[in-house]
Amino acid sequence: MKARITILCENSVGSISGTIGEHGFSALIEPAVGDPLLFDTGQGLTLLHNARRMNKDLSLVKQVIISHGHYDHAGGLKPLLEECGPKLVYGHPSVFKPRYRVKDTDECYSIGIPVSREELETAGAAFDLSNEFRAIAPGVYLTGEVPRVTGFETGDQGLYCDCNGHESDHTIDDQSLLLETERGLVLLLGCCHAGLINTLEHIAKMTGRRDVYAVIGGTHLGFCGQEQLTSTIAALRNMGIKKLAASHCTGFAASARLLREFPKEFQLAMVGYTLEV
Ligand SMILES: [Fe+2]
Ligand SMILES: [Fe+2]
Repeated sequence: MKARITILCENSVGSISGTIGEHGFSALIEPAVGDPLLFDTGQGLTLLHNARRMNKDLSLVKQVIISHGHYDHAGGLKPLLEECGPKLVYGHPSVFKPRYRVKDTDECYSIGIPVSREELETAGAAFDLSNEFRAIAPGVYLTGEVPRVTGFETGDQGLYCDCNGHESDHTIDDQSLLLETERGLVLLLGCCHAGLINTLEHIAKMTGRRDVYAVIGGTHLGFCGQEQLTSTIAALRNMGIKKLAASHCTGFAASARLLREFPKEFQLAMVGYTLEV
């Protein structure tokens, strides 16, 4: 396929005046042939505003993918449905599970999807939930649940299924979107809680291909330890990825390190970032 990918929601904004940032992620995929798809929806504060500012008509989108059930990826779903009409919404069966961030100070924040499944269905969502690798449009695949195979991708230690911090949340619903393009595979990440290398290994196993042209989105490396960052960089070095457009939960320090390690490949995928493949 040929497509244009545009970041609609992200923590920072690029050069398009009048767009605004929020802690979140959303990317619009406009294939040369066929309807546009939306991967994640941000928190809900910026999606519709930024789309309008960038002349993107989200009523043309029929398929929406929710990478995982965190508020900063799924919070924009309700305003999107209310303003732009019914959508087919893809995700993992555990996407509506309650989840929390518990800080070292014992402060607890709810970080799950802020509205119920029923409320979203009333607003026009038709959910298609699965944990399998699958095609959802020509050349467009969802990874499904990503097996955790590397020893070093230990993930974010502050995520829990309860506010007391008794049960860790491994965010098994985390999945990424894969595009089969003429330049190679393009991988879109929400937060990549499953780990970037686990995700890349999973798609290699599912497709038999390792020609990843671009990786775009949140790597969560900003919330993981230095050891994970260093081992991830070492693993990426042999993969020949041409564009490493990290953003969102990658954070400033990990982004700076990635830029130093991959000066030709690294880019910041902020609001307004566009890639044509
Ligand atoms: Fe996130
Ligand atoms: Fe997340």
